Amino acid sequence: MQTSDSTIRVFDNVLTSLIRFAIVACLVLCSQAATAQDSPSAEGSSSATPHSNLVDPSTEKKIDALLHKMTLEEKVGQLVQYSSGQPTGPGTGRTEYNDMIQKGEIGALFNVTTAREANAFQHVAMEKSRLQIPLIYGLDVIHGYRTEFPIPLGLAASWDPELVQQTARVAAREASASGIRWMFSPMIDIARDARWGRMVESSGEDPYLVSAMARAYVLGYQGEHLNAPDSALACPKHFVGYGAAEGGREYNSVEISEHTLREFYLPPFHAAIDAGAATIMTAFDSLNGVPTSANPFTIKQILRKEWGFQGLVDSDWTSIAELIPHGIANDPATAARKAFLAGVEMDMVSSFYHDNLANLVHSGQVPVAAVDEAVRHVLRVKFALGLFEHPYADEKLESGAMLQPESVSLARTAAERSFVLLKNSPLASGSPLLPLSSDAKNVALIGPLADSAAIMLGSWSAQGRPEDVVTLRAALIQKLGAEHVHYANGGDITKASDEQLAEAVKAAQESDTVILALGENASEMTGEAASRAHLGLPGRQQQLLEAIAATGKPVVLILFSGRPLTLPWAFEHVPAVLAAWFPGVQAGPALVRTLFGESNPTGKLPVTWPRAVGQEPLYYNALNTGRPAGNADLTKPPSGGASKYISRYIDEQNSPQFPFGYGLTYTNFTYGPTQASSIPLSAKTLNDGIRGAQFSSDSMLTVSANITNAGTHESEETVQLYVRLEGTSTAQPIRALKGFQHVKLAAGETRRINFSLGPDAFALWDDQNKYVVESARAKIWISPDSAHGSEATIEITK
Ligand code: NOJ
Repeated sequence: MQTSDSTIRVFDNVLTSLIRFAIVACLVLCSQAATAQDSPSAEGSSSATPHSNLVDPSTEKKIDALLHKMTLEEKVGQLVQYSSGQPTGPGTGRTEYNDMIQKGEIGALFNVTTAREANAFQHVAMEKSRLQIPLIYGLDVIHGYRTEFPIPLGLAASWDPELVQQTARVAAREASASGIRWMFSPMIDIARDARWGRMVESSGEDPYLVSAMARAYVLGYQGEHLNAPDSALACPKHFVGYGAAEGGREYNSVEISEHTLREFYLPPFHAAIDAGAATIMTAFDSLNGVPTSANPFTIKQILRKEWGFQGLVDSDWTSIAELIPHGIANDPATAARKAFLAGVEMDMVSSFYHDNLANLVHSGQVPVAAVDEAVRHVLRVKFALGLFEHPYADEKLESGAMLQPESVSLARTAAERSFVLLKNSPLASGSPLLPLSSDAKNVALIGPLADSAAIMLGSWSAQGRPEDVVTLRAALIQKLGAEHVHYANGGDITKASDEQLAEAVKAAQESDTVILALGENASEMTGEAASRAHLGLPGRQQQLLEAIAATGKPVVLILFSGRPLTLPWAFEHVPAVLAAWFPGVQAGPALVRTLFGESNPTGKLPVTWPRAVGQEPLYYNALNTGRPAGNADLTKPPSGGASKYISRYIDEQNSPQFPFGYGLTYTNFTYGPTQASSIPLSAKTLNDGIRGAQFSSDSMLTVSANITNAGTHESEETVQLYVRLEGTSTAQPIRALKGFQHVKLAAGETRRINFSLGPDAFALWDDQNKYVVESARAKIWISPDSAHGSEATIEITK
């Protein structure tokens, strides 16, 4: 790990991992991407003690005593979770819970959103039920509770786990003020396919980056101590593979080999569990033919046995009932039995446990000891939160906890750090269009996203309210004065009249510069159940874009979306394009500061940006194939021979529009050659390191490069480190991210950047189903993204 320089925040986690390797006998599977680690100088340190040990002997005794007193029905009740005010289970129509709570038939509720409502149910549990076991309240707090931050994909574009941890802390503080102590987050599915609407909730496609974010969310939600009143349980989801839905179609089946599961899809979950996540949620998908909500291999074998998870396993919404349409159960009792015996402990909404579990125990199909174990996990997290002593939220403090000035300011910083500058071409003057001059006057602001407060909140915004949002239009008027902002919405997202288009063109013609705000509708086109087969601009927005560009005015295109959009025309013809995702409550101020250069865009893509839908799923860390296209010219259809029989399309490039890790700034960074230290690296020593033997930092490989800010603005760069292994027992990705650092350089400054690499940078899942380091040739890049940079080559001997 390099440098104590306070301007550099280091996320190269290798040393931390090594220390862990040295003191803990590693389980068969070690996550190669477990954590991101910030420097000692960083504020809000993400190195806070995680709750890796939920098991406290004195609490376990209390749980034993309670279990002893509980009837079977009361035990089953702890495993039942309903959504407040919404019908339970298929066809029950039940929406009233007080009676069930009084009888001890409900352990958890969700979708309660005020302290008052939470307390009202809690009073029933604490005063009228026989054993006075508190309820626990969950909610989908995905990127903020009342203070909405950028969507998770945008937060991931910051490549800043420390920032993400801070946003999660704010979210937990606000939610817990409403009595909600369980966040159904982070969503850490690997998302490789932009057709899938839930990419918006993810941290992207790369296991290393998603693991860093996973850890940050968990530490942020759970805080220093779970029993602090403003701490909340994290619930990493959806375990596992949901993001690989075939065709990107929501809820679709998933086939992932064990090798791919271990190398790509599982590491973020392992990182979250290592960081102390106290609960986990299964998924809707079937994985290799076995639905994940009844999958003993992933839950019992991997999560419990290999990773030693000691918390609670929740189902997803009716995912136990869905075992019937999946085709692995013909009746509710079988579905309940299969899910429960596979290790799903709490039943979200379906009522199948409520209706069947006791009978399954009576008939000997489910051992009562298994029920006791599941109830133990529910009680464990309730005790850990301190709910038995403090079951109520303080209603007087609730509103004051929301939208505190520091939280709003953090929302602006987070939004600024989430923006990815995709294009910024020089105009005739020779200067790039962005940043705009601070004395710019006469600006046209056009597009259906320019003044839409609700959409800035993203697809899943908990208690976020449109009135809390400052839109781009409001912020631009604040900056330039209403007389200098010519606004026209150009129609809606999905439709526009000829008159609306004409009005927008007129506004452009009358202005010197155009800011065009286009994209998707967050709630209708992104998130759950929002897969898209076409990834262009909806409605007539493409027509609007082309009409505005035809005016010849310089156009800055701001894209609001929950995924990359395939817009080849825009990327060819529009001089400046900024991916803004859905930025949250401070969308407008963050954008205006960025457009006018008060803030420098530094975000990098957490997903590969495709040229065409037909390329999906498209991800950088793919395998090479036996017939890679290499440097072949793919701009022309194959003419035969060498240009034909290679892995390619005949009508589209293999390369993406923008690679994973890509993002411009207002300056220009140049990278010197990647250089590796010449210490001998042997697979044996590295494997000893993985298995827990001492691995001294002297044995680490140092990889370095000089980075120069060759431009005229001070700026931050996210320096990335990638590795490719060749000659191994299983084929390895063309490149795999193994570290990143933020470095801030003054104009003209050069700094040498070092990464220290140990066993986990070179480990892989081998052909014997083991996590090992093998002798190999390793290529290593220090680069600005996943497609550029010079490579260093080293040999790992036997
Ligand atoms: C279904 C979603 O898949 C999951 O992410 C969410 O937490 C639950 N519904 C609860 O709302």
